[in-house]
Amino acid sequence: MNFKGLFCTVAAACSVAFSAGAYGVIDNDTTKRERMQWFADAKLGIFIHWGIYSKGETSESWAFHNGHISLPGYMAQANDFTAANYDPQEWVKLIKDSGAKYTVITTKHHDGFALWDTKAGDVSAVKSSPAKRDVIAPFAEAVRDAGLKLGFYYSLIDWPREDYPEIYRDKAPKYDIKKEPEKWQHFLDFNNAQLSELSSTWNPDLYWFDGDWEHSSEEWRAPEIVELLRSYNPNVIVNSRIQGHGDYATPELGVPVTKPEAEWWETCMTINNSWGYQKADTNFKSPSTVLRMLVDCINLGGNLLLDIGPRADGSIPQEDIDVLKELGRWTSKHSEAIYGTRAGIPAGHVQAYTSLSPDSRTLYVYLPYKPTGQLEFKGLKSKVKSARVVGNDTPVTWDLYNDISWSEVPGVYYFNIPEEALDPEITVVALELEEPASLYRGHGQVISFNDSEAALK
Ligand code: GLC
Repeated sequence: MNFKGLFCTVAAACSVAFSAGAYGVIDNDTTKRERMQWFADAKLGIFIHWGIYSKGETSESWAFHNGHISLPGYMAQANDFTAANYDPQEWVKLIKDSGAKYTVITTKHHDGFALWDTKAGDVSAVKSSPAKRDVIAPFAEAVRDAGLKLGFYYSLIDWPREDYPEIYRDKAPKYDIKKEPEKWQHFLDFNNAQLSELSSTWNPDLYWFDGDWEHSSEEWRAPEIVELLRSYNPNVIVNSRIQGHGDYATPELGVPVTKPEAEWWETCMTINNSWGYQKADTNFKSPSTVLRMLVDCINLGGNLLLDIGPRADGSIPQEDIDVLKELGRWTSKHSEAIYGTRAGIPAGHVQAYTSLSPDSRTLYVYLPYKPTGQLEFKGLKSKVKSARVVGNDTPVTWDLYNDISWSEVPGVYYFNIPEEALDPEITVVALELEEPASLYRGHGQVISFNDSEAALK
């Protein structure tokens, strides 16, 4: 954080300078800002991992890569990919009702099984499974009809392919791309052909690449891939997993502790411990836990991309449904304190998560607990005009102590939050400020001048 002296107007001085840093995110021009707007405003997306592995007995792709199952044994799971109970309209309704504004579906994981009718390769839901159909097409249509943004997960890695060098962990690659550049080029052409199919058919709003770690940007020809995608859709958003050529960072399986340096980011998160459906994994997070993660991301100015793992027949586990439904209850009640908000203030001022409206005049305070007394808020220089509970507009009163005109240190607010207005999970209080939020960030002071008579007037 770059505070100007002891004070900072949250919108200006507290906003972190954009930096490519470790996140491998590039450029920061106005066009990019416009292009990223919907993403910055969205806050919640739903990730879907669906594929061969959705039979529920192995992890997605990693199972054969790590040697837990043979490659033929892994690929044979495709025989269970029936999609018999697949109802894309229902999926999309569930996603939309959760309050998510975008969704990202695995079009192809590291195992190379394409969920659409690819003409570029031989491994797909159409050609290699009893589903015998393109399962992306009806999903994409339902997503568009619902007015959600459409994201495609695409693995750059395709371990089983002959022309892709790596396959098993700790085993030598099938070939050396420096010695056989034509073979590698053949693979790159294949990836590009699949990406062209996806873009020309569905024109997605976002690409979520994965697996870039196995090759350098030069080897992947990463800038050319992005250029190819932008030739179909100049506004397409690309995640960071493309060796430094993406738009936003993707911390995985853990909400950041401090605000990421990248201006745009999204935490991707599982509901249990697995990306795809796994029968043995019953370690489901409760709706309440997931809600806290969402609010934590909002507080730090990012998005939550929450994963669900449908079964091979297309049915969605009840635990996933329960989480999405509770998200829906909470997001519809608190929408003004979610969509379009910006990162909150630094920790220490109030024992709660916070966020700000774009003009910084409304400060949202999220309470993931039931207060047992007044809620203390210190170091807030901007005066509070009014306060209310979001979702039911119950007025919130306060006491303000030690608001002394000759002190640099602002008074401390103590808010009274009516018990009957509390949300069963996370209560949100909106503080309307007289001017854009500004904070005192100092260590307190010794006051060398007092005029308590003046204060009583
Ligand atoms: C990891 C894993 C992959 C998973 C992805 C989702 O990179 O390789 O299996 O799909 O994270 O974020």
